[in-house]
Amino acid sequence: MRKEKALLFELGRPGRRGASLPPVDVPEKPLEELLPPEMQRETPLDLPELSEGEVMRHFTELSHRNFGVDSGFYPLGSCTMKYNPKINEEVAAFPGFTHLHPYQDDATVQGALELFYLAEQGLKEVTGMDRISFQPAAGAHGELTGLMVILAYHRSRGEKRKKVLVPDSAHGTNPATITMAGCKAVEIPSDERGLVDLEALKQNVDEDTAGLMLTNPNTLGLFEEDIDQIARVVHDVGGLLYYDGANLNAVMGYARPGDMGFDVVHLNLHKTFSTPHGGGGPGSGSVGVKEKLIPFLPYPVLGKDGEGNYYWNHDLPQSIGKIHSFYGNFTVAVKAYTYLRMMGAPGLKQVSRDAVLNANYLMNRLKDYYYLKYQRTCKHEFVISARQIKKNYGVGTADVAKALLDYGFHPPTVYFPLIVEEPLMVEPTETESKETLDDFAEAMKKIVSLAQKDPEQVTSAPHNTVVGRLDELTAARYPRARWIPEE
Ligand SMILES: Cc1ncc(COP(=O)(O)O)c(C=O)c1O
Repeated sequence: MRKEKALLFELGRPGRRGASLPPVDVPEKPLEELLPPEMQRETPLDLPELSEGEVMRHFTELSHRNFGVDSGFYPLGSCTMKYNPKINEEVAAFPGFTHLHPYQDDATVQGALELFYLAEQGLKEVTGMDRISFQPAAGAHGELTGLMVILAYHRSRGEKRKKVLVPDSAHGTNPATITMAGCKAVEIPSDERGLVDLEALKQNVDEDTAGLMLTNPNTLGLFEEDIDQIARVVHDVGGLLYYDGANLNAVMGYARPGDMGFDVVHLNLHKTFSTPHGGGGPGSGSVGVKEKLIPFLPYPVLGKDGEGNYYWNHDLPQSIGKIHSFYGNFTVAVKAYTYLRMMGAPGLKQVSRDAVLNANYLMNRLKDYYYLKYQRTCKHEFVISARQIKKNYGVGTADVAKALLDYGFHPPTVYFPLIVEEPLMVEPTETESKETLDDFAEAMKKIVSLAQKDPEQVTSAPHNTVVGRLDELTAARYPRARWIPEE
């Protein structure tokens, strides 16, 4: 039985108070003296009046209705939260960091600049790039920055290239970024392996190609085995290679975008490097570039003079300009640096090893119940399909996702990538135990059994959550984000 939650507006009763203050013991000024009459409200605000306890209970109960990585398994493929050690939050909250002001003179913030510098060294080593900019605030923002850098490079050579190739297995933000940067997205199909179709790539690449945006491993969780050839084909026509490294946890310590031939990479520090992901930030889609692209990075870039002093260098005449206020989200860099130091090189390698092991274990547990289109060893994630149970019992991807809520699991990413019918994209991450993965596999298996016996039970799920099936389309298109009192 679902319990409707009353709003604070409905709970309030006139005269209730959350705090009692001593009576004023100084002369009160008349309101007119404090605020001119034309600025005063005519009718009083209809605010709810409640006791402290009521307010506390209301918000505490609401917070318990939230689902997060701290409350349960969250296998949201590609966009999942990875490991967010709480100690890193504590470090980022050190007053020495949080009390800084971006207008302070460089000489007074040497420690913070050194941290940026050291974090950059670490990320350079992990990616094989020559410089990193921490300015972009999110993955998609990093993509736009990277693509603008690529276009600025072509412009500096007197070329106006407009075409950007993007595989159909790319993350959805990639084609969106290409369009936003004013370029034409040309889709490259995947072959029967789920990898870039080399022949199709060769047919589409030409002198108008500004570059290729590649998510590697792609959104099927598959590593592009032909990456050397792909890089050569694009470079041969003067195009550049962009690496969507949002999910670097698949390859850290094993393969580097810089060594694969990529010219630009973005990382989602708010996924792989320990900042919590979601809810609108703050994040960091840091961008790494090869030597020849450094002049085009957003300004300022960090410099270090002969005496070891750090400074912000604004003198970059070819820069694409600023893409974020000041220097990006500094505390995200603090967390990334803390994480890099805590893990060390062997630790990062272990992260990738465990992420890949967990994904392959779960994929193998699930493939007897769900269709697996590409039967290959995956990296950090994999995509299964509900197409058989859809065909046989009318239970599709959305129904499986909703039913999982009744078992206490956050659903995987649904209906993506588009090249798999009824897809469920699962990313278990490196930190989950075998028991958790087994519990999830059992729940997925039970949903298939339920679909066979009583499909209606699945298509009407969830049954045990605070709210049932929502009208997601209306909620997305016409969100009502404020309370409107009933007449
Ligand atoms: C592969 C990939 N690229 C890009 C993005 C976009 O990142 P953001 O959501 O920070 O814009 C994501 C999302 O997490 C992603 O998984």
